[in-house]
Amino acid sequence: MITEDKIQINETLADLYSDAKYDMIKAMKSIAKSVFKPIQPSDFKDVYLSISKEQGEDLVELIKQNNIQNIVEFGTSFGISTLFLAKGIIETGGHIITTELIDSKAKSAIENFKKAGVNNLIEVRVGDAKETLKNHKQPIDLLLLDGWKDLYLTIFQILESNFHNNTLIYVDNADMVETKAFLQTVSKNTKYKLQSQHQGKVVLISIKK
Ligand SMILES: C[S@@+](CC[C@H](N)C(=O)[O-])C[C@H]1O[C@@H](n2cnc3c(N)ncnc32)[C@H](O)[C@@H]1O
Repeated sequence: MITEDKIQINETLADLYSDAKYDMIKAMKSIAKSVFKPIQPSDFKDVYLSISKEQGEDLVELIKQNNIQNIVEFGTSFGISTLFLAKGIIETGGHIITTELIDSKAKSAIENFKKAGVNNLIEVRVGDAKETLKNHKQPIDLLLLDGWKDLYLTIFQILESNFHNNTLIYVDNADMVETKAFLQTVSKNTKYKLQSQHQGKVVLISIKK
């Protein structure tokens, strides 16, 4: 049972965002390494790579306005985006499944969810999303794609049978080359409608009515 006085989402998010500048420096160092070898998720094991506060608050509104309850997230990292999702589903009575490849990141995220008082609303699946989500057989109201971009299409296809008429797919980093290729493939299916947001950083996919 969640009681108002135990919920500390805003405080937890404020602490995490206060590290944001330092996080950017760590991210730049990890990217620099990719000059010498192909970039790996483990190169970013200490880096948040999170959505912005503005995106987070928009997600909260999206969840409330559409009465979204069943959320699946690809790419937990330290749990910043998941905390915004939790802020939304507290209002709608929903639940979140989120998945993260790097064990230490998943552990930190769980600590952050406990600190925020919302860990009982969030199931964290540790491992490769291709495995952790492959047997998912429950309706999805919102899918947040924010893991490695070359897997967006695979994860979308693994979960597509769980979409319904009101499902929304929130695609972060829509302006990256691999994401553009994914969006182009999805846009060929006339069933889907794509809306660009946040100056092209985000695309929201919905099902045409
Ligand atoms: C951009 S970050 C996620 C940021 C997070 N959504 C936020 O806004 O706070 C992407 C995360 O996806 C994880 N990831 C990459 N490949 C993955 C895979 N195959 N399965 C699960 N997680 C993966 C990375 O380790 C990284 O932590």
